[in-house]
Parts: sequence; C-alpha cells; structure tokens
Amino acid sequence: MAEKTFRYRGVPFTTDLHTEESLSYAENEFVVLDDDTFNVTYPKSGTNWMIEILNLIKYNGNAELSNQLPIFIKSPWYELAHGKQQVEVLTSPRIITTHLQYQMFSKSFFNSKAKIVYTMRNPKDVCVSNYHFAKIVHCYKDPESIQEHLETFLQGNDVFGCWFDHVKGWMQMKDDSRFFYISYEELQQDLRGSVVRLCKFLEKELDDEAIDSVVKHSSFQVMKNNKMANWSLTPSDFMDHNKGSIMRKGVSGDWKNHFTVAQNEYFDRVYEEKIKDFNIKLFWE
Ligand code: PPS
Repeated sequence: MAEKTFRYRGVPFTTDLHTEESLSYAENEFVVLDDDTFNVTYPKSGTNWMIEILNLIKYNGNAELSNQLPIFIKSPWYELAHGKQQVEVLTSPRIITTHLQYQMFSKSFFNSKAKIVYTMRNPKDVCVSNYHFAKIVHCYKDPESIQEHLETFLQGNDVFGCWFDHVKGWMQMKDDSRFFYISYEELQQDLRGSVVRLCKFLEKELDDEAIDSVVKHSSFQVMKNNKMANWSLTPSDFMDHNKGSIMRKGVSGDWKNHFTVAQNEYFDRVYEEKIKDFNIKLFWE
C-alpha cells in the first residue's frame, strides 16, 4: 500500500510515482514500435530478473554491453510519471517494462508486431516480497504486520491493483503468438531452458557460450553484486539502502517463513474463490 494513492480506472497508484497524465499517455498515446518487447509483471514477480535476461539476450550474452545503464533506466517502467522521457531515449529494439493491468495497456500495441513477455509468481511469495519492499521504499506505507499486508494484497488494494485481475487479464492473450508467459518458479527450476525458450520466442539465435553467459549474469548472486542491477544506484530519497535491498532472498516458498497456518488457510480460501473460474493450471499449484 502506498502512502499517497489515487485510483486510475479503479486501480490504486501512488502519487509519488504516477500521474493521471502518465497513465493516460501510456494507454492512449504511447506509440508501440514493431520491434519493441514488453516485460510485463505484477510487482515482485521477477520483473528485474526478466529485465536482466532480456537485455543479456538482446546483447547476445555480452554483459558489458547489457550493463551500460542501471537496470531501472535500461528498461524503464513506461507508465511512471517520468517514463515517457526515459523511453524516448532508448535505442531499438526497446525492452520496456510495465506493471500495468491488461485493460490499461497501450492501445497501439494491438496494431503492432511488438512482443510481450509476461512473468508471474506464486502470489504468496509476491505478497511477502512486497511486504519487505514496502519497508525500504519511502513512498510505500510500512505495513504494521504481515496480517495487515495480507489483507491489503488479497483485497486488491496494493499499488497496481488486484493480483488475480492482473493474471486473469493478461492471460487472455495466452494464445496470441506475440505473447510468451513464464513463471518465476520455472526460471528458478530451469533458467537455461527458460533462456533457450525466450530466445526462440524473440527470434534470437545465441550460441551455447552466449546462453551460458545470459544464465551466469542473470543469476541471483551476480545480480545482487552488480551495482547496475541491484538498485543500489537508486536515489536515497526513493529507498533506504540501509534497511534492505530489492535483491532480498531470491527464493521460492519464503511465504512459509512468514504466514501462520491460519493466514495460509485464509489465503488459500480467497485464492480458490478468485481463481475457480480460471482454466489455466498455474505452475505453483
Ligand atoms: S519490482 O519492484 O516489482 O520490480 O520487483 P521484482 O523485480 O518484480 O521482484 C523482486 C523479487 O525478485 C527477486 N529477484 C530474483 N530472484 C532470483 N534470481 C534473480 N536473478 C532475481 N532478481 C530479483 C528479488 O530477490 C525479489 O524477491 P524476494 O522474494 O523479495 O527476494
């Protein structure tokens, strides 16, 4: 939950990062180019991991070229208040990040040949990761307890809205040839295989050495120690670097260390209710 929020088309956003104009621009005016790739996620689902992978693939595994700019500049969130200016200076093929819900995504995408990579993650781990992130980012309200945060998350009141709506919305595109979906858990289980599949989708031919380099440089430890990837270059008025890092644990299942049995049962009840009409088996189920 953010300190100061407003709703755009019913979805909560933070006034520190977004404006009505920036969201409307992203939806209605932004011109998508045919060779754009969109990195789409609900927050805390592996966004930065995918930025790193996609940029390393773009540069054929060359980490020096891929790391010329900090991660939050090389593939910016185009819906942010300053997103327009950041995207305008990117060199094609652009890799653009967004947490937007499907219904507010750029209209011009649908008349383009651009591609989307959608990464999702077990919502219990999303919820826990966001709980910790809110403690270090100044524009987010520090949740008093995991219970309070769980309620906010399950009621869809976190910034960028309801996780269930996000996944259901974007997965309407699952049969579109321009749409590729993957989970954080699949990346964990088989990063190399995932990179190979991504290369195929992006029509990029990388040799074995280049693929090995993508895998190596997008590993948690390498990203955590890389100042271009670990967000240590974000200004201290955005996040308190002494309190923690966005590169926190990088594992699946950390929710088990946070939820009580009752909280887990509550989560499962809401999950079952919200996902019951969804006919896609999700990786963690
Ligand atoms: S954000 O703020 O929405 O852009 O955050 P996002 O990047 O989506 O999510 C942050 C979580 O992703 C983990 N992460 C990784 N895990 C494994 N391998 C790699 N390379 C990697 N990079 C980022 C990061 O640690 C956050 O998860 P938690 O569970 O908090 O550790």
